[in-house]
Amino acid sequence: MSTESFPVLELPVVLNTGADPRLVAVHFPLRNGNELRFTTLAGLVRLIGEPSFLLNLIGQCDGRMRLSAILNTYPNQRRSAALEALELLVAHRIVYPTEYLPALMSEWTSNSQPFMDRWLGDSTVATIERASRFRLPGDASARDRPAVKPSQVLALLRKRKSMDVSNDAVLGPPPADFAYEALRVAYGNTGQYRKTVPSAGALWPLSLWLAEPRPSNNQANLSWYDDSRDRLIPLQEISTPQLCSCFLPDTIQSSIVVGIALMFVCGDLRRVAAKYASRSFRYLMIEAGALLQNVHLLGAERDVGVRAIGGFGDAQVTSLLKLPDLMIPILVIAMGRHGTS
Ligand SMILES: Cc1cc2nc3c(=O)[nH]c(=O)nc-3n(C[C@H](O)[C@H](O)[C@H](O)COP(=O)(O)O)c2cc1C
Repeated sequence: MSTESFPVLELPVVLNTGADPRLVAVHFPLRNGNELRFTTLAGLVRLIGEPSFLLNLIGQCDGRMRLSAILNTYPNQRRSAALEALELLVAHRIVYPTEYLPALMSEWTSNSQPFMDRWLGDSTVATIERASRFRLPGDASARDRPAVKPSQVLALLRKRKSMDVSNDAVLGPPPADFAYEALRVAYGNTGQYRKTVPSAGALWPLSLWLAEPRPSNNQANLSWYDDSRDRLIPLQEISTPQLCSCFLPDTIQSSIVVGIALMFVCGDLRRVAAKYASRSFRYLMIEAGALLQNVHLLGAERDVGVRAIGGFGDAQVTSLLKLPDLMIPILVIAMGRHGTS
């Protein structure tokens, strides 16, 4: 057996009031009498003594308050105790100077998890026992059910399904301009300060790339969608085998070969981290989910096949798209003509 450890961030051991960093607490404790317990990336941390003082201190580390401002909230005789306690919290990776946040966010994402480098095939995952879906225990009585009202959204949702991308499915490229239309519906602007999806803090940290394979010559066009200007910027040609190598064996390789278009949904951790600290990763995923459903609804309306593909290699996609540091691949959306269209 081997053990693998997470990358370790170089954190300052001594906080410097000259540099006066902003501080953010990324773990919050469970209190048990005189003890505070934190579950951190490095393991369980127990701090014993002065729990109210520590809780007050942690509460002030909100990502906006600078060290000096936090210390100034204490009377003179408590300031050195507050500084010492903050240094302890930083040493235990409970509080971070905000400039460390983007790198920390990367640690929390699948990108840097060593196990993401291993390809899990169906035969491996199939051995995991299926867990049943959540149900409330017992048989509580339900509210009366209102009648189903006619709804365009519901009508599209009833048509929505994932296109079959198995080897024997009849597939081809999506109709002309569908991919562009899908980018627009996925993440285009709908007003001066509004897009097709909600975004925490209106930060809109997602970015989209598009690969359009050309079956005739085993090449694909790679482009980046400039969503704020609604422009598709051609980048370079890539080879179909290179594109296929981003995905688990036998997932959508055969569909790529026949020209299925692929939208790569990536998220910029740096943009969300400064504001949302430990919630950043979650917020990226939520936004990407809303985007996926938009594309599914467009596919249902136009009768074009759409399928989310999560079985890709993070490292391969990062290298193919030349993603900058802390821009992480989240999802690939396959789009194409399917058997019935
Ligand atoms: C996050 C996510 C990842 C997915 N990854 C894959 C994938 O790697 N390969 C695949 O064939 N389908 C993938 N799917 C599609 C699901 O298999 C599909 O949505 C599910 O079987 C339900 O079918 P329906 O969408 O037609 O209702 C993914 C769906 C989601 C939401």
